[in-house]
Amino acid sequence: MNPLPPNYLDKRQVSQSFDRAALAYELWASLQKMVGDDLLERLEWVKLTPRQIVDVGAGTGRLSRALSQHYKKADIYIVDISEKMIIAASKKAPRWFSKQHFVCADAAQLPFIDDSVDLLISNLMLQWCNDIPAVFAEFARVLKPDGALFFSTLGPDTLKELRQSWASVDNGSHVNHFLDMHDYGDALLRAGLINPVMDVDRLQFTYTDVKQLMKTLKQIGAHNITAGRSRSLTGKGKFQAMLAAYEKYRSPEGLLPATYEVVYGHTLGKRKIEPASDAPPAAVPIKWKNKS
Ligand SMILES: C[S@@+](CC[C@H](N)C(=O)[O-])C[C@H]1O[C@@H](n2cnc3c(N)ncnc32)[C@H](O)[C@@H]1O
Repeated sequence: MNPLPPNYLDKRQVSQSFDRAALAYELWASLQKMVGDDLLERLEWVKLTPRQIVDVGAGTGRLSRALSQHYKKADIYIVDISEKMIIAASKKAPRWFSKQHFVCADAAQLPFIDDSVDLLISNLMLQWCNDIPAVFAEFARVLKPDGALFFSTLGPDTLKELRQSWASVDNGSHVNHFLDMHDYGDALLRAGLINPVMDVDRLQFTYTDVKQLMKTLKQIGAHNITAGRSRSLTGKGKFQAMLAAYEKYRSPEGLLPATYEVVYGHTLGKRKIEPASDAPPAAVPIKWKNKS
């Protein structure tokens, strides 16, 4: 019996999966490009002049390249858990831009000191993390007190057609699990990030067949690697039954839809951390009046 929850994602497998996808990633990552562009537009909502920017789960660095055009004076730290993604990002970085720094690290253990980052941005990475409270606590640690966090991730309606088609065939874990917008909002508050603003957008991509959708997911490293997935090859019969179930979504134009629920969030600042209660009390010198 596998003791891990069915939707658990093993970090090593996540990074290996994205390692394999790194070379061709940008050719296939249309959703990531669209959502990344949206995230950039959202930065215009607030006046920011960041000097230290961290792009977490930066992939091949497309968003970071746009940020370096936007904030020319800023240092940009391009962080990803996949070494091959970081190598691809460094190869694509414009030679003229010396303020980009490439860091292979986990979002839950960032190699930055406390209160040092002005802007933390993360496009479609958080859905790959099991422990969102730990990641947000890490974001809160590295952000300056007035630092900004902008992110996008995926919500539970993502790939609902694929999930429902599989559910009509068996009870296995065939599609990654996605948290609700409110879970993200609650986790931000618990991490001490103040006034979170959240919203949701729904996008639909269409495919001629399900295999084309699955190929796209594989090419961007986003196929199913949950702990509860079947380790043996899914039987041909089950796969055909899933394909047949998906047919009910086929549009009059002859195309199959795949829905993506995109969750956006941002916070502007963090709560002041109170000293731990077991810390020694601050010593205040007291002047005694001589009563005699
Ligand atoms: C869907 S891609 C998005 C890449 C990029 N942000 C973009 O917009 O194209 C997700 C990226 O997050 C990275 N990633 C996943 N889990 C991570 C973690 N725990 N820490 C850092 N990066 C992570 C993956 O390696 C991958 O490059």
